[in-house]
Amino acid sequence: MKALILTGGQGLRLRPFTCQTPKPLLPVANLPFLAHQFALLRRHGIREAVVATAYRSEAFPRTFGDGRRFGLRIRYACEKSPLGTGGAVRNSAAALDPAEAFLVLNGDVLHDLDLTALLRAHRAKRAEASIALVRVKDPTLYGLVETAKDGRILRFIEKPSLDEISCRTVNAGAYVFEPSVVGRIPPGKPYSLERGLFPSLLEAGRPFYGCVTGGYWMDIGTVEKYLQVHLDILCEAGAGAALFRKARLRRRGAFLWEAKARLAADAAHEGDGHVLVGAGASVAPLVRFSGSVCIGPGCVVERGAWLSDCVILGRSRIGRGARLSGCVVGHACVVEPNASIGPGRALGDGSVVKQYSQL
Ligand code: GTP
Repeated sequence: MKALILTGGQGLRLRPFTCQTPKPLLPVANLPFLAHQFALLRRHGIREAVVATAYRSEAFPRTFGDGRRFGLRIRYACEKSPLGTGGAVRNSAAALDPAEAFLVLNGDVLHDLDLTALLRAHRAKRAEASIALVRVKDPTLYGLVETAKDGRILRFIEKPSLDEISCRTVNAGAYVFEPSVVGRIPPGKPYSLERGLFPSLLEAGRPFYGCVTGGYWMDIGTVEKYLQVHLDILCEAGAGAALFRKARLRRRGAFLWEAKARLAADAAHEGDGHVLVGAGASVAPLVRFSGSVCIGPGCVVERGAWLSDCVILGRSRIGRGARLSGCVVGHACVVEPNASIGPGRALGDGSVVKQYSQL
């Protein structure tokens, strides 16, 4: 079976980080995000992926090549202009097997959904299309998917008001499609799975099912969620467990560090969570950490800095006595000595924060 991964969105809600880097390539715990999805596919025995690209297409083969390093065979289906989630499926048809069902994943959701259970349910129901569903606490933020007892999809309710909430299951961004689905999508023009294909399957009365699979699930679409995904991974919650099995990490107490990272012996940590120090990064003496912190490759953290629940992307410098809390710092930024950056702040790549500034 092949998996098709949708990666062509512009990631507007995750600006400024997506101005240079497409969302599916942004580092998550110091790995390009899609590498986490590739690991999930491998865990479910899937060895071939088609990556459907539109925004900054050239960056994908540059990062993943033919996929061998990631234990998969990867092909790319590039859109000249973005075709939407449905148009991307149609545009990838030549790379898919015309006689076999395929899996589709949104390229911006970190999850450890039980894909094997999804496939099993799809086959057992003889479905033409199946959607993985997750249960959420606050359904008003999402599009709900209402199903019958046997899983058949009854209707979609977009961002419901409180009195419209009839279920708590939402589209998890993972689907199984029979090849016949491809022919339902108009060729060569923008088309949406959610607004085009799914309503048309319902209208035509096709066998269209939802399958609730448990597990961790979080999309990385906004700065807040991008940070939260890191905190979850570094707390060893849900999907995080996979990261901690990686042999590439060395470990001392709450600290994990990659090849050639240098961490002063007196680095202090308080609270829950872990600190991940990327390859070649250095942490000077008297630096204090709280909660979960991800330091990208090649970063420098100078003496006496205080870092709490934050993410710092590669090659950034955090000056002496600087204080960072609840924020995300992009690639190659400079935070000068004694500056403070507070919760919710997002520094785009190459930003410079002058000494003693408070953001
Ligand atoms: P926002 O601009 O912040 O909404 O982000 P987005 O467009 O990247 O995300 P959205 O939730 O709309 O898309 C869901 C998934 O579909 C993401 O993995 C996108 O990369 C992907 N996607 C969206 N539009 C396209 C497209 O035109 N072509 C392809 N190949 N993928 C797309």
